[in-house]
Amino acid sequence: SELVFSGVQPTGNLHLGNYLGAIKRFVEMQERDAQCLYCVVDLHAITLWQDPEALKGQIREVTAAFLAAGIDPKRSIVFNQSQVPQHAELTWIFNCVARLGWLNRMTQFKDKAGKDREAASIGLYDYPVLMAADILAYRATHVPVGEDQKQHLELTRDIAQKFNNDFSGSILAHGHGEQFFPITEPLIGGPAARVMSLRDGAKKMSKSDPSDNSRINLTDDADTIAQKVRKAKTDPEALPSEVAGLAGRPEADNLVGIFAALRGISREEVLADYGGSQFSTFKPALVDLAVEKLAPIAGEMKRLVADPSHIDAVLADGSERAEALAAPTLDAVKDIVGFVRRG
Ligand code: AQP
Repeated sequence: SELVFSGVQPTGNLHLGNYLGAIKRFVEMQERDAQCLYCVVDLHAITLWQDPEALKGQIREVTAAFLAAGIDPKRSIVFNQSQVPQHAELTWIFNCVARLGWLNRMTQFKDKAGKDREAASIGLYDYPVLMAADILAYRATHVPVGEDQKQHLELTRDIAQKFNNDFSGSILAHGHGEQFFPITEPLIGGPAARVMSLRDGAKKMSKSDPSDNSRINLTDDADTIAQKVRKAKTDPEALPSEVAGLAGRPEADNLVGIFAALRGISREEVLADYGGSQFSTFKPALVDLAVEKLAPIAGEMKRLVADPSHIDAVLADGSERAEALAAPTLDAVKDIVGFVRRG
């Protein structure tokens, strides 16, 4: 059966890319009646230094975004990673399965470590192994993510495969099926799998971009959204009537993709309505749509974080339920690896 896992880092500045590429799709998976686990990945967040007081607020803010977007903490399991010790435990075992050569190929590490790679934390380097542990602690079958996470999901599949092979005898001897860990399917797609910066169509919309005008934050008010869309970089041409006409026009493509994802339609359908329109017509329509969809989320987030007791209770309950699912996996893994166990 389907088991869905995904996570979002509490690193501040949650933006439209996180919403359209991930959180909105989490809600869609929940509507499909799959068992879903949605995790605020605080262990991942500290791979880059976080101010401790700010981190707490950021964890609550991501949780609030999940709930405000429509994730139901009764149907789905909503929790923060650090409250479920199995994530870190399984990471260690996977550290001994994953190969140095595999991690050396990870492009996100290269981007985030920057020029002074020697000064990067070991955690930043190990980030994708922790991600594999997040997913496989629940033996999740499906992982909805943005396109930037594709390479990490391939690594997760490699780790699952190698564990299944390296321990195949022991897996069978302990009464498990050959495929102890599933080969997880990434769910990447839709018109907003990679939302680009509003200032530069060649760069991903990102939390860490120093320009706030590069992104629409989930907490932006209507005026700010309007201003950012108005200032968004575009070319001087009218919109094409066919998707093929967006080739070589990354900024136009991005705005059409955002419109499509917000409305829940395809780029083709957007262009059927707006082909031939100038940006002076399309941008105000995009602002109206973005405000219509995002303002209720921002309002609900504000309400939820004002009194964090509900959020903290959701995370406590979710962590308990997550741990109840992860603990049997870890017990089995420890037996499979050959550790001597307490009674
Ligand atoms: N621009 C994006 N378009 C579509 N999806 C995106 N995601 C991130 N950016 C985009 C997806 O959002 C989920 C959570 O991301 P994350 O917080 O775990 O990590 P991230 O990818 O590091 O986020 P940022 O915003 O890009 O931060 P920085 O600035 O640190 O690089 C993931 O599913 C991700 O794919």
